Amino acid sequence: MLRIRSLSKYYGARAAVNDVSLEVGQGELVTLLGPSGCGKSTTLRCLAGLEIPDSGEVWLQDRLLAAPARRVQVPPEQRRVGMVFQSYALWPHMSVLENVSYPLRSQKRPRQEVIKRARDALELVGLSGYEGSQPGNISGGQQQRVALARALASECSLLLFDEPLSNLDVHLREQMRSEIRDLQARLRITTIYVTHDQSEALAISDRVAIMQDGAIVQVGTPREVFERPATEFAATFLGKVNLLHAAATGKREADLREQFRLAGGGEVHVHTGGTGGPSAEGTAVRVGLRAELIRLSRNAPAAEKNVWKARVERAVFFGDGIDYMIAIPVGRLRVRTPPYDQFRVGEEVFASIAPEHCFIVGSTPQPARQEEVSR
Ligand SMILES: Nc1ncnc2c1ncn2[C@@H]1O[C@H](COP(=O)(O)OP(=O)(O)OP(=O)(O)O)[C@@H](O)[C@H]1O
Ligand SMILES: [Mg+2]
Repeated sequence: MLRIRSLSKYYGARAAVNDVSLEVGQGELVTLLGPSGCGKSTTLRCLAGLEIPDSGEVWLQDRLLAAPARRVQVPPEQRRVGMVFQSYALWPHMSVLENVSYPLRSQKRPRQEVIKRARDALELVGLSGYEGSQPGNISGGQQQRVALARALASECSLLLFDEPLSNLDVHLREQMRSEIRDLQARLRITTIYVTHDQSEALAISDRVAIMQDGAIVQVGTPREVFERPATEFAATFLGKVNLLHAAATGKREADLREQFRLAGGGEVHVHTGGTGGPSAEGTAVRVGLRAELIRLSRNAPAAEKNVWKARVERAVFFGDGIDYMIAIPVGRLRVRTPPYDQFRVGEEVFASIAPEHCFIVGSTPQPARQEEVSR
């Protein structure tokens, strides 16, 4: 198990990593997900020992790896941490076997053991038979497998991946991510995986940590962070979300559905699922409606809550589905439907969403605009 406590790393006056705390269980895979520059790689580099943090502590099982306040900074080669980068970082003049065995050889282990472990690792990643190949003569996916084998060969207790699949094409990326996941689960190696691809993060992780400006803003299972984002940033970073300004009415029904008054008029019912009482009347919030969870229909839906008359303003077909922009009385919504839900631009339709599929996030001061559509 890995424990990161209040880790910070500054470049000049700017915190690249700002008071990050995270616990990752034995065999768990946690993703760091966030936009470019939010501090994902710097966090990994602090864990690998490639950067010296300014404050905080890093523990792997019961070993303290880094703690500037205690002057502890275990060098990278003694951490038992394996790292796989976006650029495979293979040595072009060495064979596949030499690349995989290099870290073991530099640890001066017996030759027989080094060869056996390197071959075992290559077998794990499905590259038996490629021992003598040069990295330049194998595909990008195979090169990334070599990098993975190299990390696995040195008996690491922690695996770190920094956008390992970004250089691969879409199909290979999906195949490799399930291979990585299967292997990681089978070997039960504690893993931190960095990506800025939301679907990759949701698909591969036990838990996702969303990062913004060097800090972790939310940690949860893929479902938790998707269905109940903690902040506006988390909501808009993961998927396509409509955020509407609203105020609590203080009314709640027996099934934990709270009523909110929309800034543009009308009401929206949200299954807040919270314990304690409803939000105090007048509390400003933003109600999140995921584009994928809004339904469009020609006839009035059976549901009586959260139904709006709407007009289709734009429709974009993109194979997997259709992206609509619709106008409802309180503003505009982005809606994503399956590809067979076809409506014409200009058509009058009904838009609806179940209260269970709505969420609220705390509001920032109300700007002049009534609604915002993200991404
Ligand atoms: N060696 C460095 N010197 C100065 N600033 C740095 C250095 N490395 C990173 N930074 C800054 O620290 C911040 C975090 O960078 P980091 O590389 O950790 O981001 P990231 O989340 O990995 O981004 P990306 O998705 O683009 O890889 C950025 O503002 C970056 O410019
Ligand atoms: Mg990075």
